[in-house]
Amino acid sequence: MVAFPTETVYGLGADAANAAAVRRVFAVKGRPLGHPVIVHLADRSQIDEWARAVPPAARVLAERFWPGPLTLVLPRSARASDLVTGGQDTVALRVPSDPVAREILQRAGIGIIAPSANRFGTVSATRAEHVVADFGDAVDLIVDGGPAALGIESTIVSVAGGEAAVLRPGGVSREQIEDVLGAPVRVGGGEIRVPGSLPSHYAPRAQVEVFDELAPAEERTRSLRANGVRVELLAPGGGAEAYARQLYERLREADRRGAQTIVVVAPAEGGLGTAIRDRLRRAAGPRM
Ligand code: TXA
Ligand code: MG
Repeated sequence: MVAFPTETVYGLGADAANAAAVRRVFAVKGRPLGHPVIVHLADRSQIDEWARAVPPAARVLAERFWPGPLTLVLPRSARASDLVTGGQDTVALRVPSDPVAREILQRAGIGIIAPSANRFGTVSATRAEHVVADFGDAVDLIVDGGPAALGIESTIVSVAGGEAAVLRPGGVSREQIEDVLGAPVRVGGGEIRVPGSLPSHYAPRAQVEVFDELAPAEERTRSLRANGVRVELLAPGGGAEAYARQLYERLREADRRGAQTIVVVAPAEGGLGTAIRDRLRRAAGPRM
């Protein structure tokens, strides 16, 4: 079990074909068995080893966005075990672009499962230090590749039914996908199990309150502070890309300082902003 950087967030990696190693990743994360994980590959040519059918739309998306922050859900091949797929007939595949991740995958030559390297339901890790803070010695090795370039998870697109649907917004925007496919794509996954779609996920210890504008967020911050609440205001400037890069780190820092409430100003809807707003909504969602 090795934690390693990807361009989105750090992953907790294990040989996808080694049941004992995969089980250990679930145990260390505190992730319930039955929740499927993403198989990471060095090269898009490996797609046919793991998927038994690859619709044309999937080939086009892989061609355009791999290596990169896109995960494709496809009909699984016999190689993808029930442990990896959560017993579903589909498997999630991704070719990351981070140079360290690529080198690890190339040298290993195997499919590597890598859920985000954080405890189940909490804030993802964008630095090796975050993985240390969450897991300490429970992880055999942590490869430090510096801060994650993107800072938010991959977009998950299901192409299993032929027609593309976004199951989780992420590093590749819906607009980019529609552009490449030349057709509108659905958002939402029906009955498919995606832990990242639980009401509370990506959540810090502190309560999270989300606002669209700075003024009401400042107002709320002042009023909580006046009532003795340890509150922090989070309003990253500089556009959605800078926002995504900082978000998880800032949430983790606020927790470390003992914040009780984090008041967040969300970025505008659209592009990467849609993915960030999705994470903020879940971070603010009712706790399990
Ligand atoms: O950016 C990322 O995707 C990161 C980096 C490390 O690659 N990984 C990541 O993994 O976010 P994880 O396990 O935290 O989230 C993967 C999501 C889960 O919500 C899971 O349910 C969904 O992918 N997933 C995996 N296999 C699936 C499948 N066959 N059908 C539908 N969803 C699936
Ligand atoms: Mg995760």
